[in-house]
Amino acid sequence: MIDLRHVSKTFRKKEELVDAVRDISLTIAQKEIVAVIGPSGCGKSTLLNMIAGLYTPSSGSIAYKGAQVSDVNTDVGYMTQKDNLLPWRTVRDNIAFPLELAGVAKSERAERADQVIKHVGLDGFAHRYPHELSGGMRKRACLARMLLYGAETALLDEPFAALDAQLKLAMHDLLLKLATETGQTVVLVTHDLMEAVTLADRVVVCTRRPAMVALEQRIELKRPRDVLNVRFTNAFKELYDTLWERLRVEYHEERV
Ligand SMILES: Nc1ncnc2c1ncn2[C@@H]1O[C@H](COP(=O)(O)OP(=O)(O)OP(=O)(O)O)[C@@H](O)[C@H]1O
Ligand SMILES: [Mg+2]
Repeated sequence: MIDLRHVSKTFRKKEELVDAVRDISLTIAQKEIVAVIGPSGCGKSTLLNMIAGLYTPSSGSIAYKGAQVSDVNTDVGYMTQKDNLLPWRTVRDNIAFPLELAGVAKSERAERADQVIKHVGLDGFAHRYPHELSGGMRKRACLARMLLYGAETALLDEPFAALDAQLKLAMHDLLLKLATETGQTVVLVTHDLMEAVTLADRVVVCTRRPAMVALEQRIELKRPRDVLNVRFTNAFKELYDTLWERLRVEYHEERV
């Protein structure tokens, strides 16, 4: 589905060069859920921006279903790290915005938006404006918008970062159910190793900046997964420990 070949990205700020991503090669299969984890500032969002076609790699290439990504890729739904709800639109109108662009009639838009609003637990907030929501509610509104857009591939940048443990579990469950139902391919950036192992078919650990692939680990835990209880299995613990061993090196080296 997505094929990254020797992808690097260097930003130039006046005289200063910032290497964000270095020589990442990664192939993501259709319907696969891949979690990307790594220290803050290592280049994870940059990587998603390149897959979405918002940034061009400085070298290397990215193909989506065999075609070179050279412009914004509308086959992917992208939930960015910073929420980008439109302040002058209500929650419902924000969530339904992609349908509006697609020319879906108003009553159908409202109906479908309200359904997904319920899924993310925002019932009662459909007519509120983004500034009236908490950080976690805004995140869920962005998630709802992306889910409703229904793209064949979802790029999620720390989608559950602002949520409490209970809500996180509910959203994990929702994401897995919908991804299975729709056969969506998912690339998820997270700082939460528990979340990565719970959700993914494969976890990619990145080095501190510039991001390189430090470790790729298949997560062969059977599906459907019980997002609460899967973490108490021995298989989960082993995978978690293997990944943490590698990840802590990156966190540790960052501080020295
Ligand atoms: N548009 C840009 N122009 C210049 N530098 C940038 C740009 N975007 C990112 N960078 C730099 O690239 C590096 C990687 O940033 P990026 O946002 O990809 O990190 P990240 O892994 O997503 O971090 P976090 O976990 O904190 O979200 C940082 O040093 C950042 O300053
Ligand atoms: Mg980021």
